Amino acid sequence: MQQVGVIGMAVMGKNLALNIKHNGFSVSVFNITREETDDVASKYADENLLPTYSWEEFVKSLEKPRKIIMMIRAGKPVDETIEHLKPFLDIGDILIDGGNSYFRDTNRRHADFGRLGIKYIGLGVSGGEIGALNGPSMMPGGDSSSYAALSPMFEKIAAKNPDGIPCVAYIGPEGSGHYVKMIHNGIEYGMMQLICEIFDVLRKALGWNNKQIADQFEVWNSGDLQAYLISISSKVLRKKDNITGKDMVDVILNEASYKGTGNWMLEDAINLGAPISVIAAAVFARFMSTLAIKDHVLDDKPTLAKIDSDLVPAFGNALYLAQAVSYAQGFQQLKMASQAYDWSLNYSSIAQIWESGCIIRSKTLTDIRNAFNEKPQLDNLFLAPFFTALRLSHLSDLRLVVAKAGAFGIPVPAFSAALSYLESIFNSSLPANLLQAQRDYFGAHTYRRNDKPGIFHTEWYDEA
Ligand code: 6PG
Repeated sequence: MQQVGVIGMAVMGKNLALNIKHNGFSVSVFNITREETDDVASKYADENLLPTYSWEEFVKSLEKPRKIIMMIRAGKPVDETIEHLKPFLDIGDILIDGGNSYFRDTNRRHADFGRLGIKYIGLGVSGGEIGALNGPSMMPGGDSSSYAALSPMFEKIAAKNPDGIPCVAYIGPEGSGHYVKMIHNGIEYGMMQLICEIFDVLRKALGWNNKQIADQFEVWNSGDLQAYLISISSKVLRKKDNITGKDMVDVILNEASYKGTGNWMLEDAINLGAPISVIAAAVFARFMSTLAIKDHVLDDKPTLAKIDSDLVPAFGNALYLAQAVSYAQGFQQLKMASQAYDWSLNYSSIAQIWESGCIIRSKTLTDIRNAFNEKPQLDNLFLAPFFTALRLSHLSDLRLVVAKAGAFGIPVPAFSAALSYLESIFNSSLPANLLQAQRDYFGAHTYRRNDKPGIFHTEWYDEA
């Protein structure tokens, strides 16, 4: 009898199954079409990896209570797989969805299985194919009673943070694991867009080539800005196209695609009233890249002397602070979701899960973990001493990047959003007083006063 089963032998499922096997657990594998299973079997089958070729054979090969991980495309395929599996499952079995499922789908499936006595776990997995093989960051949510049975294996196969702690921990009820993965992906969108914008500033306002920018990213990656996304951006910028010999990045069409997890985060931010402006800017920048009218370029760019490279360290500071805003907005939404959905999320544990293995891993996440360790219910990351100091020391550099980009006509929507967020979040004089007056003027929507409690309305129109 095998200890665990993995369904879906595309690259993520295959690599996760191999990771499980390499860590000494026996695994059965299954794929809806047999070629993929055959391929895995021909290379890796042994007493710890058993290929199976029907739903029944797969399920029956597993020790009870069965632990089954689905590594398949989110959406309809998950519901179809569930329908195939259901007849063979028994009470107490544990079904795990390791894909990027929408958290409301996971809520629904978790509730459906709960009624059948089958335990359902929505497992966010990050780290791409290499992570799945060598140690992903894992965000399991759902049936808490099943977690004890899963944690020994999960802790072995997960990435380890710089202190050697596994990057996996129980997140919370129902679809909360997939929710946390969705927030991870939104932060990922924000960080990626910020890196793209600083790349654009460096190439257009300083006139730097890809190699110079790659070198600079490498420098940044060896300091406070250390982050997986910065390090891969440096490598990407050094890569040559083997067809033309040009820099790879220069032959890639500048239109962004997306599978939509960042968009989902934005949808729920709107439901919750979470001001995740950097992530919104990143989502919209992807839309904009496909809508930009490329054959009507207006000749309106200012012609300025190139910026001196003395400013580059300040740009690095701005990137560091703006990336912290992307994280802060993600954690702000997590806190609002935790309250709205009654999930009791543990933010320091989430930061720890993200410290290694995942796409948004960075040095900053250790500082975030420490901030939430000190104050578990911190309302805003920028209230923590470390991030207050960061804001005070780097805000002028963030202003500088936005100002310079503006002067050169370079769009920096994510940097601008990060700056406006920081200018707004600690601000007792936002102009919402005028807005309230406008609402009351045209719609008698009422307002509150700053000098006494209560709800007020003014007769704004002069008597005839
Ligand atoms: C990860 C990534 C991954 C995500 C891709 C693509 O954590 O390993 O977040 O899950 O699917 O990054 O996302 P987009 O296609 O939306 O850019």
